[in-house]
Amino acid sequence: MTGPVRVALLGLGQRGLQHLRALWTLQEQGAVRLTALADAFASNLDADKLRQYAPDLRPEEILRTTDFDELLAQEQDALYICIPPNLHQGQVVRAGRAGLHLFVEKPMSLFLDEALEMEAAIREAGVLSTAGFQQRFDGRYEAIHTLLLQGRRPLMACYTFHGALEGHNVKHHQTEVHGGPRNRVWTANRAWSGMTVVEGGIHPLDLWRYWFGDVAWVQAHYQHRPPAEVFDDADNPYAYSVLFGFAGGAIGSMTLSRLRKVYTSYADHQVLWTDGRAILGSEDVTVYHYDGPYPPPQPPLDESVSRVLYRGRGGDDTFAINQAFIQAIAENRPELIRSPFRDAMNSLAAVIAANVSDELGGKRVDVQQLLTAESYACFRQKPQQPVANTGH
Ligand SMILES: NC(=O)c1ccc[n+]([C@@H]2O[C@H](COP(=O)([O-])OP(=O)(O)OC[C@H]3O[C@@H](n4cnc5c(N)ncnc54)[C@H](O)[C@@H]3O)[C@@H](O)[C@H]2O)c1
Repeated sequence: MTGPVRVALLGLGQRGLQHLRALWTLQEQGAVRLTALADAFASNLDADKLRQYAPDLRPEEILRTTDFDELLAQEQDALYICIPPNLHQGQVVRAGRAGLHLFVEKPMSLFLDEALEMEAAIREAGVLSTAGFQQRFDGRYEAIHTLLLQGRRPLMACYTFHGALEGHNVKHHQTEVHGGPRNRVWTANRAWSGMTVVEGGIHPLDLWRYWFGDVAWVQAHYQHRPPAEVFDDADNPYAYSVLFGFAGGAIGSMTLSRLRKVYTSYADHQVLWTDGRAILGSEDVTVYHYDGPYPPPQPPLDESVSRVLYRGRGGDDTFAINQAFIQAIAENRPELIRSPFRDAMNSLAAVIAANVSDELGGKRVDVQQLLTAESYACFRQKPQQPVANTGH
């Protein structure tokens, strides 16, 4: 392709604005030309609001619209879709059929039938695609990927995140207009977010897939929030325990919670292989492994079995995933994309399988069967009455 990649964005909320910032930098570097910005609410397209992310944005040079048809009518190469996952209304399928390369934010849908339809449209159109799993571009997690590739056999990953319920962001979608939470914190609401494993747990789960390969089965138990204890429509469960079984034999154990009145969060992320362990911190990655003659004459000192594998916060992964996607389009190099939509389907199916397992009393759910078997058809369907219609 010659000239900058022409890009449109649908959904200028929290995530769409982060992409706008990255795409604006790429535009300044000559790699991108933004063509259209679309949102369901005109107020989210206010030029002053957008300029906080795209400082020199000139409204006359970019279409701003609340009409998806108007966006599609523009001449462009790629579309980013950053809308709440319960609100898709065929935009991915239509854009794929129109020949646009697609960046679809995670989770690509809350409903597997809908996601399978998107995947088929992307495959049939032959366009490039990525899901929004930017953490695969975080230096800390790349370092683990490289380490495991060097002949280590992964056994297990453990991820614990105790988040504060009040720590959820206020979002940009006017959810109250569509029967959603009045405080616009849709990530705390079950019908809008798909619950916390789908909304947030999908990120560590996708990293585990980056390191270990596909998930084969899932078992889960949740501690649900009784209706009398729900405030502000935040009806997601209190706590979650999920076991992911990988086709290669490793397992992943995920513990999440969103308690009220705690106001602090706690995170712990570890990866174990047959003769080593890594702790993935916010500032670095430390590996624990004894490397000397074995067995050692004396028990080694603690400091001699630990080393810093990676120092730092991992870089700007959102910019990195944008840069890779745009370069993949410009140079027709699909191999630069780390989460093509087709690949991301296993991440999506695995977290939805956790919800299904909990609903079935902790039954082990086979991910492939969840995607295909008649017995799971009812768990794949989108409800007849979607939570909301958009277009304001
Ligand atoms: N990859 C990440 O780290 C990451 C981070 C945050 C959010 N996300 C994902 O990005 C998606 C969007 O989340 P968000 O945080 O930006 O939410 P948000 O509510 O802040 O923004 C969503 C935006 O989409 C707009 N919108 C909704 N329906 C629309 C429609 N039909 N047409 C046009 N615009 C529409 C809303 O008006 C709003 O501006 C979600 O799937 C979320 O899970 C990903």
